[in-house]
Amino acid sequence: MALLPIIHAPDPRLKVKSKPVGTVDGEIRKLLDDMLETMHAAPGIGLAAIQVGVAKRVLVIDIAKEGEPRNPLRIINPEIVGLSDHDKVWEEGCLSLPEQYAEVARPEWVDVAYLDENGRRRQLRADGVLAVCLQHEMDHLDGILFVDHLSAVKRSMILRKLVKQKRLAQAAE
Ligand code: NI
Repeated sequence: MALLPIIHAPDPRLKVKSKPVGTVDGEIRKLLDDMLETMHAAPGIGLAAIQVGVAKRVLVIDIAKEGEPRNPLRIINPEIVGLSDHDKVWEEGCLSLPEQYAEVARPEWVDVAYLDENGRRRQLRADGVLAVCLQHEMDHLDGILFVDHLSAVKRSMILRKLVKQKRLAQAAE
């Protein structure tokens, strides 16, 4: 396994629409394992492949809290097949937008169909933090960040902070 560098916004790669996976093979399984290691190390609860520069419809999630046993989900080609018509507001963050948080409204639960790491078709109903995380990560596959759900004013405020963070990081190198 290997730690992968995480892309930080603003970056044009985070706007890319990722392509479906054709065959779930060893290369995809290695990508999933590397993404899980990267996400756990960050630490974070979700990571989409595009955040490590791979434009494939692949994501990993683990909402287990610190001290709880790990419960990694490996998700390929996810699709929403059902959703609540009731929205709920949660505070979201993102490994690609370090130290930035904002409240986002999303459907309270979703049914998601996907392929697992063995290429088997699966479906799950997610609610609570898992529903938020799944929808947030699936947005990444279409080049959408959580700040894209905010008002233009809030979004540009956060993006300006990120540009500043990047400049400081580059100056420190
Ligand atoms: Ni994210």
